[in-house]
Amino acid sequence: MVPLNNKKRTVSGLYIVAALLLLGIGLFWGLTGGLQYLIPGFLKESLSFEKVRPLHVSSVVFWIILGAMGAVLTYLQQHTGRQIYSHLILKMQLLIFIFSIIAILISYCIGMFGGREYWEYPPLLALPITIGWIFFLINFIKSVKSFRKQPVYVWMWLTGIVFFLFTFLESYLWIFPYFRNNIVTDMTVQWKSYGSMVGSWNMLIYGSSIFLMDKINNNKTYSHSNIAFILYFTGLFNLMFNWGHHIYTLPTYAYIKHISYAVSMTELFILGRIILKWKSSVSIAKKNFHLAAYRFLIVADVWVFLTLLLALFMSIPGINLYTHGTHITVAHTMGATIGINSFLLLAIAFDILNDTCRSFVPYKKIFNNGYWLASISLLVFWISLIGAGIIKAKWQLSTPQTLFSDMMLKLRPFFIAFFIAGTAMTTGFLLIIYPLLKNQLLCYFKKNSKEKKITGYYPSATFRIE
Ligand code: HEM
Repeated sequence: MVPLNNKKRTVSGLYIVAALLLLGIGLFWGLTGGLQYLIPGFLKESLSFEKVRPLHVSSVVFWIILGAMGAVLTYLQQHTGRQIYSHLILKMQLLIFIFSIIAILISYCIGMFGGREYWEYPPLLALPITIGWIFFLINFIKSVKSFRKQPVYVWMWLTGIVFFLFTFLESYLWIFPYFRNNIVTDMTVQWKSYGSMVGSWNMLIYGSSIFLMDKINNNKTYSHSNIAFILYFTGLFNLMFNWGHHIYTLPTYAYIKHISYAVSMTELFILGRIILKWKSSVSIAKKNFHLAAYRFLIVADVWVFLTLLLALFMSIPGINLYTHGTHITVAHTMGATIGINSFLLLAIAFDILNDTCRSFVPYKKIFNNGYWLASISLLVFWISLIGAGIIKAKWQLSTPQTLFSDMMLKLRPFFIAFFIAGTAMTTGFLLIIYPLLKNQLLCYFKKNSKEKKITGYYPSATFRIE
């Protein structure tokens, strides 16, 4: 047995710590919003739903963005076997993001808006975020040095970083009158940029997950294989062209909608592959179920399947007409950002942060409870949103339309289920991230005298649960 390590905390690890804190904050705002579904007008004077929704969405979106950046920056160094090109840029990037996020959250609390949906903060704050992202790009390219014969995940990281910058800037084109003055152009560009932006951060997270899988399996066969590159190009193709389902309801060119519908259907290939590989996935999962990081990969795999199924269903123009603007869209967004993005990032967080001066052994029970609670309650949470969405979709297109208040009354049981499941899910997530954050904090301040005595070796990705 090798003693637990006393390594200095890395800056790239701090990105993950900051991301986990944002997840905790985002969950709190999510619950507040869920309560406002149930009790309309709750906290209306001080923190109305108009403030709580962006507070929640921005916190969780930045959990994903900071987590993805931390994952890429850490794994990049493990991949090259070298230090990052510039530690100064790395630190400046983190500080820029932390200060910008704090400014964004404060601006919502004091009611300063001015941006568009999802980026509702004053547009000036987009400037430091852009600068921080350019730092990311420079540090990445300089650290990789050569792109020859690189595994698929390096290409995914590069694609994700470049496309995020592009689509983030694109989402601000509305500040120019040329785009703003034509509502259809404005909305088309806006929703196109959002669709592709999600595809960009997915590239960063999926690439990091492939790196992690290679690390667990201890070989790089998959990341250099043809199938890995075929799947990468399918993802890239979708990132660029499948955003049309966001604008089915806009009176724009029909060919845009037809192309994007056809492109969306290429994702059936990914779906088919998951089904075909189901049997072998289950046996590999059984073999690795004792690894904390692997457990999150398994649950994320289930959510890739469920989300893709719902997304393909929603991409059918006739059905999209019904689902548009209902809780089914929210179910799709939350299913993807929680079930896929958040679980993959937790797998990565457990890999990167479990290599500390303190043992995780005392937290096994807490972890197990948190894992099952979060995984099961997410399913109930998702189903209740879809249920509410179906009722609203029927109401939206019914003639003659019943009263809005009658429809809202019908939604109540779904909102109750949504809130209860949301509370259970929040508890689950907090139980999962508690040991990670506690160990980081205590190791940082070296207040770990008691548990330092415990010996054992917990190398990355091999934190055993049973
Ligand atoms: C990891 C955890 C979570 C993530 C990543 C997440 C993500 C998101 C995202 C992306 C949206 C925007 C959806 C859209 O506009 O289509 C959203 C909205 C929302 N979320 Fe969450 N969420 C999380 C947890 C929760 C929890 C625990 C609750 C509590 C019940 C909650 C309640 C809400 C509410 C009420 C909205 C507003 C929906 C609306 O506008 O009608 N979320 N969330």
